[in-house]
Amino acid sequence: MCEKKPFYITTPIYYPSDKLHIGHAYSTVATDAIARYKRQRGHEVFFLTGADEHGQKIERKAKAEGVTPQQYVDRIVATFKDLWKLLDISYDHFIRTTDDYHVAAVQKIFKQLYDQGDIYKASYTGHYCTPCESFWLERQLVDGKCPDCGRPTEIVEEESYFFKVSKYAPALIEHIKTHPDFIQPASRANEMLQNFLLPGLEDLCVSRTSFKWGIPVTFDEKHVVYVWLDALSNYITALGWGSDNDANFKKFWPADVHIVGKEIVRFHTIIWPIMLMALGLPLPKQVYGHGWLVLDGGKMSKSKGNVVDPVKLCDRYGVDAIRYFLLREVPFGSDGVFSNEALIKRINTDLANDLGNLLSRTVAMIGKYFDGVIPAPGVTVAEEDDALIALANATPANVDKQMSEWHIPDALNEIFNLVRACNKYIDVTAPWVLAKTEEGKARLATVMYNLAECLRIVGVLLVPYLTSTPAKMFEQLGTPENLRSIDTVAFGGTVAGTAVVKGDALFPRIDVEKELAALDAEMEAQKAAAEAAAKKAEEPAEEPIPEIEYEDFEKIDLRLAKVIACEEVKKAKKLLKLTVDVGGEERTVVSGIKKWYAPEDLIGKTVVLVANLKPVKLCGIESRGMILCASDAADEKLSALTTLSEMESGLKVR
Ligand code: ME8
Repeated sequence: MCEKKPFYITTPIYYPSDKLHIGHAYSTVATDAIARYKRQRGHEVFFLTGADEHGQKIERKAKAEGVTPQQYVDRIVATFKDLWKLLDISYDHFIRTTDDYHVAAVQKIFKQLYDQGDIYKASYTGHYCTPCESFWLERQLVDGKCPDCGRPTEIVEEESYFFKVSKYAPALIEHIKTHPDFIQPASRANEMLQNFLLPGLEDLCVSRTSFKWGIPVTFDEKHVVYVWLDALSNYITALGWGSDNDANFKKFWPADVHIVGKEIVRFHTIIWPIMLMALGLPLPKQVYGHGWLVLDGGKMSKSKGNVVDPVKLCDRYGVDAIRYFLLREVPFGSDGVFSNEALIKRINTDLANDLGNLLSRTVAMIGKYFDGVIPAPGVTVAEEDDALIALANATPANVDKQMSEWHIPDALNEIFNLVRACNKYIDVTAPWVLAKTEEGKARLATVMYNLAECLRIVGVLLVPYLTSTPAKMFEQLGTPENLRSIDTVAFGGTVAGTAVVKGDALFPRIDVEKELAALDAEMEAQKAAAEAAAKKAEEPAEEPIPEIEYEDFEKIDLRLAKVIACEEVKKAKKLLKLTVDVGGEERTVVSGIKKWYAPEDLIGKTVVLVANLKPVKLCGIESRGMILCASDAADEKLSALTTLSEMESGLKVR
């Protein structure tokens, strides 16, 4: 076991601008697997994730919802934490850029850079992409739009502070050239050099005055710190840099790896290292830019209605199946396509057939042929056993080799190579034939021992990737605690005489046809809802209703009315026919509230009636008055008005 070397790994901190989709979960699950892998290998790991809560985008979203930005982010961040809990994300700290310690440390960074002359005040005119929160020069736009997301940019013209990034560019270019591991995969280093660094960096605008939702610049309060400067700082503020307690900073900085999506490699390998250079701090050892999980040839986006909800997937298939798919399907670093077919195929092939069947067959055979007790090996047949044992012994190192470059899918493939070799071993040794003779049984004992032992090793090796499956495997194999750690993966650890326990299938096989139809239907419904929402958003906003005089209000005769009878209007989808008592007078009122109320919900209730509304005929019934209800614009929620305490019918409402 190696010494407890500190290992610091981070995910991006997410914008709380919407619910997270499966593409977001991809970054975090991959980071989690690496963190768990390093812990298993004896490192003291600090795994950081969090939320990037400031900026114009969030301010606008909050305004659209009619809440404060803080209320808005609090609500969304709670959903992040729920998702990470569901996906078993083992983070050590969750930073929010609205946390006090972060705010104070960012203000300190800004002041230090200003005091040392790296930040200066000037005026900015240029393009800004609010969804990406990034500044662009005219020449960088593609067809006049943001080169990253393709959306229109806005012209920003305001007094700003600027960061002299150009001053540090030569040192950064040198660093990238002399540290090939700094930007990975290597192709991304080349892209940064060719597209951004070598053509020359312009000084970066690092404050804004046209909105408020950000960290105020302490010495010039109408400015807030540019959201990327604020966000990137999280990697050191979370460790206590700039606070009274910077023990974690001393222990864990520089970061071993920042895992980020490919579109934000630019911020992490240009702005971030330059900030650190200016602060006189060491640079992270590596920034790893992974690819995107795309759907139907495009990035997932709520407006396209093609987001895949990780919560729904976990409910349907289980957390480990989803973790496995995310970690296994796409070469880490490349883009990959998410499809329902691919997901189901992975679950059925690798998890249900290869792994699940191997375990259940092995446990069942030990049950049947050896009374549920793992036998001591008997007769060996070199050409059948040696290769399997050699593979079992080589697999941990093969996994390590792949993980040394974060090739997570290949690491999993190494483990599943052993699983597949075990299945082949069953085919070749044919235990059901061996079981027929006494002589065969001595051979069968070896076969069973070897299978059980390989499965134990597989379980140990799977610990960083799947969070509940290894424990289920150990339970069925009877593996004691002391044989579940990585230092016990040399073949031969299992003690003969261990009792196995038959359990449920690890991953039930999925009926492909049925499942695909259900998933497709769900996706269609989601698309239709997104289209309807987009259409609604395009509709002109409601004009404010002009003020009225009290006399105008007095023209409306509002009365309390008691519902004495109520029935559905058969021919109408939406209508209920109510009979109400208004101070002794009985009236019929037709109301379009059938979607929200059954007749029995209303009988006996006191409601508010517009009593002097001109009678109208609805579905042939004369309606005399209207029941007042509160409802949302989309007519999804509705509630009839009533009084806080019991009042007689007929009373005036004013
Ligand atoms: O960029 N496939 O936050 P964010 C793979 N706040 N990865 C995806 C993805 C997909 N379909 N969609 C999103 C930000 N991601 C900043 C980070 S760090 C100091 C500040 C990844 O919520 C994306 O690439 O827009 C990024 O790495 C992460 O989700 C967060 O994206």
